[in-house]
Amino acid sequence: MSLKTDVLIIGSGIAGLFAALKVSEYADVILVTKKNKAESNTNYAQGGIASVIDPNDSFEKHVEDTLIAGAGLCDREAVESMVKEGPDRIKDLIDIGTMFTRKGNEFDLAKEGGHSMSRILHAKDLTGQEIERALIHSVEQKVNIKIFENAIAIDLLTEHNIPGKLKSLNENMNCWGAYILDTSKNEVVKIIAKATILATGGLGQVYLHTTNPLIATGDGFAMAYRAGVEIGNMEFIQFHPTSFYSTKSRSEYDGHSFLISEAVRGFGGLLRTKDGGLFMHNYDARKELAPRDIVARAIDNELKKRGEDFVYLDLTHKNSQEIIDHFPNIYQTCLINNIDITKEFIPVVPAAHYACGGIVVDLNGQSSLTGLYASGEVTMTGVHGANRLASNSLLEALVYAYRCSNSIKEFLKYSEILIPELLDWDDSGVLTYDERVLITHSINEVKQTMWDYVGIVRSNIRLERAERRIHNIFRETEDLYKKTNVFQEILELRNIVTCSHTIIKSAKLRKESRGLHYTIDYPNTLPSEKIQNTILKNKNI
Ligand code: FAD
Ligand code: SIN
Repeated sequence: MSLKTDVLIIGSGIAGLFAALKVSEYADVILVTKKNKAESNTNYAQGGIASVIDPNDSFEKHVEDTLIAGAGLCDREAVESMVKEGPDRIKDLIDIGTMFTRKGNEFDLAKEGGHSMSRILHAKDLTGQEIERALIHSVEQKVNIKIFENAIAIDLLTEHNIPGKLKSLNENMNCWGAYILDTSKNEVVKIIAKATILATGGLGQVYLHTTNPLIATGDGFAMAYRAGVEIGNMEFIQFHPTSFYSTKSRSEYDGHSFLISEAVRGFGGLLRTKDGGLFMHNYDARKELAPRDIVARAIDNELKKRGEDFVYLDLTHKNSQEIIDHFPNIYQTCLINNIDITKEFIPVVPAAHYACGGIVVDLNGQSSLTGLYASGEVTMTGVHGANRLASNSLLEALVYAYRCSNSIKEFLKYSEILIPELLDWDDSGVLTYDERVLITHSINEVKQTMWDYVGIVRSNIRLERAERRIHNIFRETEDLYKKTNVFQEILELRNIVTCSHTIIKSAKLRKESRGLHYTIDYPNTLPSEKIQNTILKNKNI
């Protein structure tokens, strides 16, 4: 089956939905999303969205904080333009009905690690859910946006899919849509589009412990890499310092760790070891409000030094009613897990949270393929450098979704877009292979390998070991993939393997410690003139 549209958008988080809304002002859109439309990292965002709203704050301060967190690797122009555009995009969200928490007539601006000012707009501790609600409501009013749920993008349509050119081309130049698996009918649909936006979000599910929901299997990064699109800085995986420590077995929980927002530390939460001692003053003058890489590494170090499984986050010195008012979701979820956070310490551990690298895009969201744009967590815009500042992610996704829409408008207007005949998905002759246990085992193996060897603290020997393990799983997976009809688990396994490969490859290239990449073999950060982004381009397409 085949469908045609002006613009194909893959993903229904903040980036995909906001882009759809903007593009629908001038063109038809098909938006595909893997599960139901709300399920996304966006939906779980707690702390909020950073922007300069307070008259005592300034663009310069927000820029400076972002550059400091980014450890010398941010693109200043990308940061400055995002920060300056921030208030306009926040206004767009408010205009479509997003209700941010207010204190009287003013927005209640919170503070988080690495921010020199209170500048985080939030909707209690359910900011992402509120943004998704408002965006979905607006998108559903538009007749020229068609949404397909339970529709998983498999691969991008490029020169590689022109009949007869399969073997001869080793360079793609254009993107004309994607192959999509409709999981409700088990059918692959070819969606042909003049322009495509990848807004597929993060890759936390590459790791054993993550704050990301099950959809975050890095599909966009992997599809882009397979198509020969440039991707960069994949080594910079952000580990959130404080996810809820649970003793539930993996089969009992739903695949991701519940986040205890950074805003809890902004509110005065203190980190304590199991014996009750404070420790952050030993690591950074900003203590609990140091940037995340520093806090996560400090916790990791305390846990390893003491042989313990978790540290505590303590709010018990704060007013109980204020805690409940500010963090109703965290309060309730902890209570279900038998912790009353107004009276008891919360057990926490770091977990994989955010990918700072991704598809290299310019200031307009354009990737290295003509017709392929990207926005949100799947990108490397230059905004985050080696470490993302808290609550800059929702802002970046919003700003770049808007810019993708603007540049596609120009692209459709001024380019001659000739779409060649493209191959239908062909699964004739392949076996329906249902050895799911092989897939589950490999998924677990990848997650454990990445957690143990490519986590918060790395070394050459760990990276080499991880590379060998992942390479074996890669070969086994490709072999299986060629023999089977496609189904969700094999696609996701393939994608987490590809993401793991790129993370390890980039980590091996970075022979220094910087931001989120810390290796005991090169513990120092090199002087700034030696700094480079690690850009990868797959030549074996
Ligand atoms: P997502 O919101 O993840 O959306 C991706 C979409 O793509 C989903 O709809 C998914 O189903 C779909 N998709 C994926 N693969 C495919 C495929 N193959 N085919 C079809 N569809 C696909 N950032 C902040 O700035 N502030 C915060 O307070 C904050 N809190 C966070 C809390 C948690 C628990 C988590 C996990 C993240 C948090 N972040 C926060 C980060 C932020 O939420 C994300 O980076 C951001 O929401 C990403 O938006 P996105 O639109 O790029 O991706
Ligand atoms: C949080 O609420 O701690 C998450 C904020 C973020 O990831 O930016």
